[in-house]
Amino acid sequence: MKKLLVTGGCGFIGSNFVRYWLARHPASKVVVYDKLTYAGRRENLHDLWETPNLSLVVGDVADLELVRRTCQTNEIDLIVNFAAETHVDQSILGPLVFTETNVRGTHVLLEVARELGLRLHHVSTDEVYGHIPEGHQSVETDPLAPRSPYAASKAAADQLVQAYFITYGLPVTITRGANNVGPYQHPEKAVPLFSTNAILGEVLPVYGDGRQMRDYAHVDDHCTGIETVLLRGEMGEVYNVGTGREMTNLEMVEIVLETLGKDRSLIRHVADRPGHDRRYSMNVDKLRALGWAPNHDPRQAVAEAARWYADNRWWWEPIRSGEFRQYYERQYAERLAERAPPKP
Ligand code: TYD
Repeated sequence: MKKLLVTGGCGFIGSNFVRYWLARHPASKVVVYDKLTYAGRRENLHDLWETPNLSLVVGDVADLELVRRTCQTNEIDLIVNFAAETHVDQSILGPLVFTETNVRGTHVLLEVARELGLRLHHVSTDEVYGHIPEGHQSVETDPLAPRSPYAASKAAADQLVQAYFITYGLPVTITRGANNVGPYQHPEKAVPLFSTNAILGEVLPVYGDGRQMRDYAHVDDHCTGIETVLLRGEMGEVYNVGTGREMTNLEMVEIVLETLGKDRSLIRHVADRPGHDRRYSMNVDKLRALGWAPNHDPRQAVAEAARWYADNRWWWEPIRSGEFRQYYERQYAERLAERAPPKP
């Protein structure tokens, strides 16, 4: 595992992984392969581009020729696939690109891995399990029951990866991550959206009653989880990565407000997301059995993330004043204009 192709390495989790991996494995070589969409940004690795063992290829993960050529020229031996469209609300507004990037893109990587004899690690999500009723925690053998176009595309990719192990014996592993928080997360996602809105003194649009439950895990714990699977995981196996503890969105919002010294009056309940999954919850014992454990409590992870946005306005201000405004308008204008938002 000396030469890694990290697809989506300029995105949120991908860039955190690249930074972590290069610090821990300075002798390895990392080629970031990224389409540089709105969510994949060179700035996410601003401190590392001078590093001689890091390079960037700008390209689409669904471009078989370019993926193959990039792997051949760089003598890649492991692909780590973070490349994905990841936002549920965006998948409701415009779902087709999710199939193209998440399903076809993963399929292309599998084909290249098969042709060139490479190992592939695929980064999946807890959303493939669908809504989890109170009292249950998803285990890796649970059936997949995705409920949004985003989750359905990730479930399809996840199953293609498993099919390539069964059919071709391709050396693959999969991690299914919980909601991640930390530096460089695009402000379309809940924690950075609420943090940056609070910093700007704007209202925080909480969908429905805000009692949906999520495991807000620190992105660094996801990176160590993936590293553990890369070093000690068994081929063909799936591993859940999260803290195993959830909180409600309202609890998360309160941590953000408290950390930033802002008032609860900024909370605004707005019309819910269609098909909104009420609860995600994963059992992470299988990964723990490989010697991994999370280093952050979810409350601390949310607070730390909120502080990062307060300290790094240089990173998010250009995003918020750019094309993001059109998305924000489309997603929230009507919700925020409603005279009688739903009561909690
Ligand atoms: P998000 O960060 O979009 O992640 P996911 O939908 O993949 O879990 O949202 C996290 C939670 O926050 C989810 O329950 C939806 C909720 N949410 C809001 O209440 N308001 C918002 O504006 C956003 C973006 C999310």
